[in-house]
Amino acid sequence: MRFDLPIFDVRNLSLNIGNHTILKKITLQIFKGEYVAIIGPNGGGKTTFVRTLLGLQKPTVGEVLIYGKPLEAFKEWEKIGYVPQRATLIDKNFPATAHDIVKMGRLPKKGFFAFYTDEDKRKTEEAMKKMNVWRLKDRLVGELSGGQRQRMMIARALASDPSILILDEPNTGVDVASQKVFYDLLRELHRNDGITVLFITHDIGVIADDITKLITINQSAQVCNDPKEALSCESVSELYGIEAHLLANHKKVKSC
Ligand SMILES: Nc1ncnc2c1ncn2[C@@H]1O[C@H](COP(=O)(O)OP(=O)(O)OP(=O)(O)O)[C@@H](O)[C@H]1O
Ligand SMILES: [Mg+2]
Repeated sequence: MRFDLPIFDVRNLSLNIGNHTILKKITLQIFKGEYVAIIGPNGGGKTTFVRTLLGLQKPTVGEVLIYGKPLEAFKEWEKIGYVPQRATLIDKNFPATAHDIVKMGRLPKKGFFAFYTDEDKRKTEEAMKKMNVWRLKDRLVGELSGGQRQRMMIARALASDPSILILDEPNTGVDVASQKVFYDLLRELHRNDGITVLFITHDIGVIADDITKLITINQSAQVCNDPKEALSCESVSELYGIEAHLLANHKKVKSC
């Protein structure tokens, strides 16, 4: 039981689209400093859940409070870096360079008609170097590979110096070497910079040692604060199917 103010306080949230139940009676909290993995089967509602956290999708029932406020009253969106699923599906003819796109990550801090300052330029360069895309800065986004665009989008989320980083399967299409760099970077951001990480992934085995909370979403949500235990549990196997068994074997954990 924690008594500090949660970043996200989700209260009895349900979402129906037409006759379909997408999310059902979800109540959970996410606190500063956590490294949360969200797992679940395809179509289980992970992306939709994260979108409701950000006010991009309205719940049918229930509410989300962010830093104790209703979403409508929250203004500090620059605190949140969000990389949506399939963020790389940018129009190939979009006439912007990788540098332009990452620099736009600074916009929430300044409003849309402001000039970029030296600090904006520095933070943009820093984020691009972290994600190893600085050398691509003058390339048009349409010329980049899927994995390069993915890294560019993560750099864009980092450019605003967020306190919370929300990533929806950011590694799809990224090569294994870059994934490793990325997981190391996430660990560093979490441990050294105190960034709260919310991470939708199917790749749970790789980050099992880093995460502090595991949320499994399949319409309803199950929260586990001891992720290593949870990975081996029947409840997760049931929800996640064969992949949980593979993960359990991969991690050589005992079954419950
Ligand atoms: N705008 C929408 N209109 C109708 N149905 C939707 C809409 N958005 C999502 N859904 C449905 O909601 C369910 C959950 O989708 P969601 O994208 O949240 O799943 P997910 O867990 O992120 O899946 P994946 O692992 O494939 O990314 C799916 O059945 C999907 O078809
Ligand atoms: Mg999804």
